[in-house]
Amino acid sequence: KQTMRIAILGLGTVGSGVVRLLRESREMLHLKTGLNLELAKVLVRDARRPRPGFEDLPLTDDVDEILGDPSIRIVVELMGGIEPARTYMVEALKRGKTVVTANKDVMADYDKDLYDAGEIGDAELYFEASVGGGIPIIRPLKESLAANRMELVMGIVNGTTNYILTQMSQYGKSYEEALREAQELGYAEPDPTNDVQGYDAARKLAILSSICFLSRVKPGMVYTEGITRITPRDIEYGRRFGWVVKLLAIGKEVDGKIEARVHPAFIPEGHPLANVSGSLNAVFTVGDPVGESMFFGRGAGAGPTASAVVSDLIAAALSKRTPGRRAGDASTVFFEKPVLPIS
Ligand code: NDP
Ligand code: HSE
Repeated sequence: KQTMRIAILGLGTVGSGVVRLLRESREMLHLKTGLNLELAKVLVRDARRPRPGFEDLPLTDDVDEILGDPSIRIVVELMGGIEPARTYMVEALKRGKTVVTANKDVMADYDKDLYDAGEIGDAELYFEASVGGGIPIIRPLKESLAANRMELVMGIVNGTTNYILTQMSQYGKSYEEALREAQELGYAEPDPTNDVQGYDAARKLAILSSICFLSRVKPGMVYTEGITRITPRDIEYGRRFGWVVKLLAIGKEVDGKIEARVHPAFIPEGHPLANVSGSLNAVFTVGDPVGESMFFGRGAGAGPTASAVVSDLIAAALSKRTPGRRAGDASTVFFEKPVLPIS
């Protein structure tokens, strides 16, 4: 098999999940890409720090070993934060490397230099994991629903706050205890202020609104209010009236203007979004002519996010190998696998 060399920037919650999934699904990746994906380098802040379970990885703390190596064709950015992640992404793209990222901070601030860099040669930029963890939402909106004029995108797009609100309302836990658990479970951002103040959801809404409304909605344009002022009393008060508190992200196009807001809201217990609990996320869209669509699944954590990142990686590798070839194309998958008996 032909080998394609890749590098990962970051070996935290998501990076570790991606490495584990790459190890576990080697054979399937062969089958789906026709390639041997070789992990050439993994960038961390401190390459000498012991990392149990990852002793065999080619760690480095020098990004030039990745950006300056032309044999590395795909860079998977999982460091988080805006800088230096953004500069590394732009540099990688300029050097013809495709970038796969889970970084909503960078993608929400998408600017022309990033766009231009992604236009060079066969470099591409994939960011499915930046919104909704494991839920397929970016490519469905960009591709499968491309024929629609989108009117509304609304949902629960932050797993940490949804987990906290669920633990407070269903199990009577305190805000602090629930936040600590969300951190331990790997749902929270490196700085959880981004989750609880609504900034993470605002960034995701900026990405979704930019795609849906063919505009550039920046996080600063989104009205943003988090969950830090929600008390057990608010939750109990809502319950008496049959309401549930959720942190909602809402983007609408009204009379040629975009309305974008993130804030806690009471929603009726019977509403589909009221039953999206724990770290689950859901995104509801309305488009013309398709009407209503709903995307639902695990919105945070190592496993679901690795699912989105590695799926992007498969698409990126296939596209690099054979321009125009798409993940799941029958010619890639079916003809190379023996036909299984049908029971
Ligand atoms: P972590 O903080 O767990 O991991 C970050 C990793 O990046 C660490 O390995 C760290 O190195 C490395 N790193 C950070 N800065 C640098 C730097 N300047 N130079 C070299 N290495 C660096 O973050 P997560 O894994 O939780 O998140 C990664 C990205 O994925 C973020 O963009 C986040 O928003 C996004 N995301 C996270 C999800 C989740 O559920 N956690 C879900 C969807 C997206 P070291 O180990 O040496 O400290
Ligand atoms: N901190 C984010 C969340 C991770 O809780 O939703 C997924 O993007």
